[in-house]
Amino acid sequence: MARNPRWRELDPQKLSPEARRLKEGLVSRVVGQEPAIDAVTTIHQIWRSGLADPNRPIASFLLLGPTGTGKTRLVEAMAELLFSDRRAMLKIDCAEFSHSHEIARLIGSPPGYLGHRDTPPYLSQENVDRHQTRENPVTLLLFDEIEKANDALWMLLLGILDKGTLTLGTNEQVDLTRCLIFLTSNVGADQFDRLHDKPFGFRTAEPFVAPDMSTVSDSVLEATRRVFSPEFLNRIDRRIVFNSLGEAQFKLILDLELGYVRQRVRKRLDVDLRCTPAARRYLLEKGTNPRYGARPLRGLLESEVLFAVANLIGSGQVLEGDAVQLDARRDGEGLVFRAQRASRAAAASRGGATSSTNASLSPIVLPLPASRELLPASRD
Ligand SMILES: Nc1ncnc2c1ncn2[C@@H]1O[C@H](COP(=O)(O)OP(=O)(O)OP(=O)(O)O)[C@@H](O)[C@H]1O
Ligand SMILES: [Mg+2]
Repeated sequence: MARNPRWRELDPQKLSPEARRLKEGLVSRVVGQEPAIDAVTTIHQIWRSGLADPNRPIASFLLLGPTGTGKTRLVEAMAELLFSDRRAMLKIDCAEFSHSHEIARLIGSPPGYLGHRDTPPYLSQENVDRHQTRENPVTLLLFDEIEKANDALWMLLLGILDKGTLTLGTNEQVDLTRCLIFLTSNVGADQFDRLHDKPFGFRTAEPFVAPDMSTVSDSVLEATRRVFSPEFLNRIDRRIVFNSLGEAQFKLILDLELGYVRQRVRKRLDVDLRCTPAARRYLLEKGTNPRYGARPLRGLLESEVLFAVANLIGSGQVLEGDAVQLDARRDGEGLVFRAQRASRAAAASRGGATSSTNASLSPIVLPLPASRELLPASRD
């Protein structure tokens, strides 16, 4: 059929400048999870266009997949981009609600119950609206590890997803229609072990062939159908299986996390932290793992780098404005710190006569615990 020249062809995938900024911000913070980022950005654009259903939450996402791959990080990154604070969200750790009476912490107790005024409900309208701004009148609501929720919490969740309202113990209604709801679950995450592990227990002449990501992803979705009821799954707008991360992604995450540490040290202590390739290798090896993802990395950087630098400053070995170099010990069992005085560091960075080789740096070997067990680190 001939095209009528009066009709312009349009691109329904095109993002608004605002959605593009959000997407770019997410891509620069969350590594290797483009499908999840695309889903979130699209929903954000639909909400901005005013087409979201006004009688339900803006959208709900079920985030699935292995531990330490960026599920919580994605929501934190949204909070950073929308409200300049990664903690600007309401987060409910479902594992903390394994008994039905604990639900009172979320919705309060009916009047007349002992102490009903003492603990204001976490999901009060005031709390729900707390982080909203004029530019971003939206709340990020995160339910972590939903498979651990008890029946009372499930009922509450079903009501929220369906109608976007919640009734408190006092009978007051809380409006949750301006919420983006994220639910995380590790259901089916064991399927990802098949990507890394050879079959165990019998010898086979066949070489080990790992299944591909889409096969694993299908098995994870299949597992959710076995564990969660259809009435729950039907209320979820998008189910997203996070990718398992590999070496290339871990390297990018290390760069990001090191960048955050460098920024903190530079801002608070005016110290210029540099990292040798050997130190990077050490941190990657110790802080990442196909089974626990990049989860241990942040803790490792905090315990072995940030605290160490704080100690070096506290003990007067590093002064304001100094440069500190992070290197790996020769035996690969820990890190070595070397410092360069501020004047030398400045000259070196200007390309002056002072050499910036290791020889000009005074070595400081910190007595770090030899093999601190970092796996598994505490959960979010
Ligand atoms: N894709 C990623 N991009 C950037 N950083 C990541 C990514 N995945 C993990 N990290 C790092 O690992 C830490 C833990 O990740 P996160 O809390 O997002 O794990 P999770 O997927 O929510 O796991 P769990 O299922 O155990 O809750 C993050 O704080 C971040 O430092
Ligand atoms: Mg998490």
